[in-house]
Amino acid sequence: MPSSPRRPFFCGNWKLNGTIAESLALATDVRNGVATLRSADVVVAPSFTALHAVAQRLEDGPVAVAAQNCHFEDKGAFTGEVSAPQLADAGCKYVILGHSERRQLFGEVDAAVNLKAKAALRAGLAPIICVGETLAERDAGETLGRVQAQVDAALAGISNPELAKCLIAYEPVWAIGTGRTATPGQAQEVHAFIRARVAAKDAGVAASLRILYGGSMKPDNVRALMAEADVDGGLVGGASLQADSFVRMVKEGS
Ligand code: PGA
Repeated sequence: MPSSPRRPFFCGNWKLNGTIAESLALATDVRNGVATLRSADVVVAPSFTALHAVAQRLEDGPVAVAAQNCHFEDKGAFTGEVSAPQLADAGCKYVILGHSERRQLFGEVDAAVNLKAKAALRAGLAPIICVGETLAERDAGETLGRVQAQVDAALAGISNPELAKCLIAYEPVWAIGTGRTATPGQAQEVHAFIRARVAAKDAGVAASLRILYGGSMKPDNVRALMAEADVDGGLVGGASLQADSFVRMVKEGS
C-alpha cells in the first residue's frame, strides 16, 4: 500500500513507439484494465501522431492523455515543433517535460524546460517535470545539487497556484531503461529533498505535490517504492508498453 497521503499517479511513457492502431489497442486495454480502479490517476503518453486518436478513444473514461514534449511558444515560425495549445486541442491534459532523453539526446536545457512548463500552464496542461542525475553525478556525490538546480530552474517564475498544478518526476538517468532501479531509500531521499525544496516556496503546495519515481519501475518493485512516504507514483517506460504489466503495476502500487 502507498504510504503517501496523496492520490497515486501513474503515467505510461510510450516514447517513440506505436502506430496509431497499436496505440489505440494499448490504450483500450489499459482503459479496460483499470476500469474498476478508483484509487489512482492513470495517464498514457503516446507519440504525437497518435495523441488525438487515443484521446478520443479514452474520452470520458478514467485514463487521461499526456504528450511527451511541447514547444515553448504558442505558435509561429518554428518548423517541426508542436505547441501546448495544439496538445490541449488534441485532447491532452498533461505534458512530460525535460525528460532526460530530451536533455541528453536533444540538447534540452533547464531554461527551455522552464519556458515549456509556463507554456503548458498557459494552455491549461499540467506539466510533469522530469529531473534526475547521471551516474557520474551520483558517483561524484552531486545528486542533490544537480536535482536542486534542475528543480529551481524548471520552477523559476511559476506562481504558487500554478505550481499546485505541476507534478515532478525524479528519474535517475542511470535507472532509465537499464533494468537498474533506484532503491526505495535512494528514491525517498531525493523525493523528500524535492518536496522540501518546493516547501520553501509554499508548504501547502509541497504537501500536495505529487512526486513520481521513474527508472525501471516494474510490477515487482512498485510496492516497495510506493511504501516510501514521498513516492507518489511512477513515470513508467518499458513496463508501460504491455497493458497487462502496466495495469498490474498500477494496481500493485495503488
Ligand atoms: P523505464 O523508463 O521505465 O523504461 O526505465 C522510464 C522513463 O524514461 O520515463
